[in-house]
Formats: sequence, C-alpha cells, structure tokens
Amino acid sequence: MNLSYFSDKITAALAQQRYGEAPEALYEPIRYIMALGGKRIRPLLTLLGAHLFTDDLDPILKPALGTEVFHNFTLLHDDIMDQAPLRRGQPTVHEKWNANVAILSGDVMLVRAYELFLDVRPELLATVLRKFSQTAAEVCEGQQWDMNFETEGQVSIGQYLDMIRLKTAVLLGFCLELGALLGGASPEAADHLRQFGTDIGLAFQLRDDLLDVYGDAATFGKRVGGDIVSDKKTFLLLTAQAQAGPEQRATLARHIGQPVPDADAKVQAVRAIYDQLGIRPQTEDLINQYFQDALQHLERVSVAAERKEPLRRLALQLMEREN
Ligand code: IPE
Ligand code: IPE
Ligand code: MG
Ligand code: MG
Ligand code: MG
Repeated sequence: MNLSYFSDKITAALAQQRYGEAPEALYEPIRYIMALGGKRIRPLLTLLGAHLFTDDLDPILKPALGTEVFHNFTLLHDDIMDQAPLRRGQPTVHEKWNANVAILSGDVMLVRAYELFLDVRPELLATVLRKFSQTAAEVCEGQQWDMNFETEGQVSIGQYLDMIRLKTAVLLGFCLELGALLGGASPEAADHLRQFGTDIGLAFQLRDDLLDVYGDAATFGKRVGGDIVSDKKTFLLLTAQAQAGPEQRATLARHIGQPVPDADAKVQAVRAIYDQLGIRPQTEDLINQYFQDALQHLERVSVAAERKEPLRRLALQLMEREN
C-alpha cells in the first residue's frame, strides 16, 4: 500500500476539521499553523499502526488528528520558548501575532486535541486518555529539561537522550500505540509498536538537531543555526565539547553560554569545530543505531511482513529527511 493512501485520508480529514470562530485572534492562528502543512507524521503513524491490524481506518481518523493538533500546539509554545522566527517556511505565530495569542491559541488546541480523542470506542476511552495525558505531561517535562540545559554548563549525553525521549520520542511512541490499540492489537504488539515509535522518535530528534546545523534553510523551513544561537545542549554540541582539543575547547567556551554580539559568527565558529571533529557522521551513526533498534521491535510484531512495509518505508524516509 502506498503511503499517499494514508496521507490523503489525513489531508481530507484535516480539511473538514473546525476549531472555532470567534474571537478571531484565538482561532485564526490555529487555522494558520494547521494550514502551513508539515509532514503530518504523527497521524500517519497512528493510521499505519492501526493498519497493521485492520482495514477499517475511518474510526481512527479523529483520534489520529488529535495527535497532529496536539503536536501543533506544542510547536506554538516551543517557538515562543525558543524565540524562533520561522516555522514551515513562514513567520511563527508569536511573530505574526504576539506571544499572548500563541499561548492562548495553543491552550485551546490542547483542549481540541482532547475532544478528538473522545471519539475512540467507549471501552478504550479511559486507557487512551490516560496514556495521552501521561505522554503530554512527559512532553512538558522534556521541554523544561531542554530549557534548563540552555543555561547549564554540564550536561551529559545520557541527560540529553533522556530529554529528547521526553520532548519528542514518547509522542511518536504514543501515536503508534494509539493506532495499534484502536486497530485491535494485542497488548504485547501495542507495546512493541510503542517502543518502535520511541526509537524512531529518538532518531527523529537527532536528525532535527543535525538539520538545525546543516540543513538548507529553504527546505528545512526553520532558522538554521537556531540551536547554536540558543546554546541548546544537543548531541552535536555535547559530543564536540567531549572531543575538542584545547584550542577548540577554548573557542567553544568563548561562544557557548556567553552573550555574543554576532549570532552568525557564533554559528560559523561552532559549525567549523563540528566539521573538524566529524560530528556529522557521528550523529548519523547514532541515528542509524536507533533506526536498527526500532526495526527489531517492528520485527517482533506478528503480522504479515507486507503489512509492515508502509511503516518501514515511512521510518526510513524520516531518517533521511531534509525538512
Ligand atoms: C518538529 O516536528 C518538532 C520536533 C519534534 C523536531 P516535525 O518535524 O514533525 O514538524 P512538522 O509537523 O513536520 O512541521
Ligand atoms: C521540539 O524540539 C520539541 C517539541 C516541539 C515538543 P525543537 O525545539 O528542536 O523543535 P523545532 O526544531 O523547533 O521544530
Ligand atoms: Mg524549537
Ligand atoms: Mg525547543
Ligand atoms: Mg529543532
């Protein structure tokens, strides 16, 4: 089955979705961010997770959209926190309107996400809401660690991996588990799919951090170098700090955690050290390791290999993505 079969369903369902009318300053930003597109991978993971077990995807569409609305809510707030000017190639909501608008539109998106999850079969409702609530709280925990780390001098790779597991990976895991549960998977299969999603999610955030340094601005749709400017403790920076020689260490110390007058010069200086140390291939190796770990979990889901093909293909695309 072609991936577009699934993404077309999501696009059509999103086009039908209504968030509210007045006041305009509450709802227009929601229509704006949702219309900017994005890869829609979270609802896609939910549909693909369900499709391993069932052909009847229509009852799964609303909860699948819930994952996308929730994700977009996190983006509105994340862009305030990260002071990001660009999202999907367009001005962020807090830039186009203001931070108060982005906060409140985000809040009501979280409410709308809950409403979309109400659409699951009654016998699954409590389980789904409990798992979603747990996931949403973990995303907030990860986001706060991410912010804390900006001003911390000593962050280990282990702490970084815990942080990205929370802020990014658990949601991808939830999306797959949700699809599996709604599609009628056994608890064991649903658990392997959640772990598959979490491993893909770790690789996904590593790829995001890599693109933040090496991406093409037009394709990536976000400000390139933003993580360096904000002193984000990414795998790239932590690995560079660990492997730097004395001179490189001094250069990093001059730029990281210091008020610098020229942001572009800071990005260039840090990127040059990444290049010298081969940080890019090292990051790609780790991405690949998580991808392999993920596949092990997919292997252990007992459905016909051909039914797993779209999921495997999507995962591979995500590892190689440029946006
Ligand atoms: C961006 O998510 C936030 C991260 C977790 C890195 P996506 O890369 O899925 O963003 P869109 O929805 O495709 O724009
Ligand atoms: C995003 O991490 C995590 C969440 C949105 C929860 P980033 O801050 O790296 O995401 P981008 O790069 O802004 O999309
Ligand atoms: Mg951000
Ligand atoms: Mg962030
Ligand atoms: Mg990022």
